[in-house]
Amino acid sequence: MNEHPASDSVCPPVAGTGDGSVPRAPSDDPGEDEARGEVGVGPWPGPWPEGDHYDTELLAEGDRRNVVDRYRYWRREAIVADLDTRRHPFHVAVENWSHDFNIGSVVRTANAFGCAAVHIVGRRRWNKRGAMVTDRYQHVHHHPDTEALVAWADERGLPLLGVDNLPGAVPLETYPLPREAVLVFGQEGPGLSEEARRVCRDVLSIAQFGSTRSINAGAAAAIAMHSWVRAHVFGQRLPGPVPDTGGAPTPTTAMP
Ligand SMILES: C[S@@+](CC[C@H](N)C(=O)[O-])C[C@H]1O[C@@H](n2cnc3c(N)ncnc32)[C@H](O)[C@@H]1O
Repeated sequence: MNEHPASDSVCPPVAGTGDGSVPRAPSDDPGEDEARGEVGVGPWPGPWPEGDHYDTELLAEGDRRNVVDRYRYWRREAIVADLDTRRHPFHVAVENWSHDFNIGSVVRTANAFGCAAVHIVGRRRWNKRGAMVTDRYQHVHHHPDTEALVAWADERGLPLLGVDNLPGAVPLETYPLPREAVLVFGQEGPGLSEEARRVCRDVLSIAQFGSTRSINAGAAAAIAMHSWVRAHVFGQRLPGPVPDTGGAPTPTTAMP
């Protein structure tokens, strides 16, 4: 079986727990953390470890950040540098014409899945709620319009692949995702803009079976990025033709 890529974390001695158990990173819910009585790790017990990557303030006062154990007590720059050695070659772009609340969630997921960079297209300011400060460890580029994103991608030979359930979209589930590409997401309401649709090599839809027209962009981005991970980290092969849904509604496509 494949080892999970994130399972190689090296954990420093556990501060504060006293029982040698692995400290748990804070959850997204501060109330839950409070109820558990644990948020990150306390001051490093005993003699400090050596290494430029350690942050003396964190060693002295404890590390309450939302980082995996491998990075406990590391300086932020050292974490970014380490991630840079093993980021995956896919990018994601999100349209930001109306301060979409999903963007923070897309950034967080991009960080979790080792995405090379996130591209914000449109307004420079984006809604960070939902990012849970993961943007500090993630490369985030801004492009004022679709044209600028296309120029950036063209320079690097990266195809743009739209993700939306528009008429003419092809199923993500059976699409051979390239290793190097930019996955482009639209926003709540309008979905992918006309300009974005025009410049994308293909638009990929995620199969739905219920009554809603769409899932939210944050969820769609997570599914699409994980499809890339399954294909290129775990080498999972694509299924054949779309299977019979066994009487369930057939996948739906949103009307324009
Ligand atoms: C809430 S959707 C809105 C657009 C949608 N086409 C509609 O007609 O309602 C916002 C974004 O989420 C992503 N999305 C939502 N559902 C999707 C699906 N089933 N397949 C692919 N992308 C989806 C797309 O990136 C889309 O632009």
